[in-house]
Amino acid sequence: MRILFHKAIAMDWENHYLDKHTPWDKGAAAPPLLEWVDSNPGAISGKVMIPGSGKGHDGRALVEKTDASHVIGLDISPSAVASANIENGSAQFQSEVGDLFDLPPAHQSAFDWVWEHTCFCAIEPEMRDAYVEAVHLALKPDGELLAVFYRDPYDDEHSPGEGPPHGTTVEELRERFEGSGRFQILESYVPRASYDGREGLEQMMRLKPL
Ligand SMILES: C[S@@+](CC[C@H](N)C(=O)[O-])C[C@H]1O[C@@H](n2cnc3c(N)ncnc32)[C@H](O)[C@@H]1O
Repeated sequence: MRILFHKAIAMDWENHYLDKHTPWDKGAAAPPLLEWVDSNPGAISGKVMIPGSGKGHDGRALVEKTDASHVIGLDISPSAVASANIENGSAQFQSEVGDLFDLPPAHQSAFDWVWEHTCFCAIEPEMRDAYVEAVHLALKPDGELLAVFYRDPYDDEHSPGEGPPHGTTVEELRERFEGSGRFQILESYVPRASYDGREGLEQMMRLKPL
């Protein structure tokens, strides 16, 4: 059942990229990421993983603006991965087809940083505890999760319960990440910089695994 479920979800995302219906893709890196990197020069180094990395705009920015030695984008859509590698890939940033919930051994306890941007809101809410476990598994013990969570992604086309995208709250994030005993939240704030239309609707967080 789990494999069938994931195949269906993967097909759905792949079809969006094939149909060029990707409203989440703004053609540029996430403003809250750029804001955080500008405020914390030199903080990000080593290996970085981006789950649900799409066309790779954030991966390219991480290579250009941080000390990351190697950035890996992981996405279940082969078309997204192909676009990412053609449009934004480099020797330091490569995307690969893969499922966050089925990390290969090479990606376990392997990353100094994980960057989250619109993967948490894209998965089904019942997979959120598994998301916490998967990101914990990907990180080295002294790694960190940097994340922008889309608290309120709802508009005329998207309503609560009809996602993706699926919204969240600071309380839910605290419960999932800290309540599980897997992470400690080190920073939490509403970013000043956002894509047009997302102002005030996102939550930036930095978390360390326990
Ligand atoms: C809303 S899109 C965001 C893409 C990118 N972060 C961006 O902002 O452009 C969500 C992405 O997550 C990917 N995805 C969904 N479930 C996934 C999973 N289990 N493992 C890896 N990627 C996944 C989708 O293929 C899609 O590219």
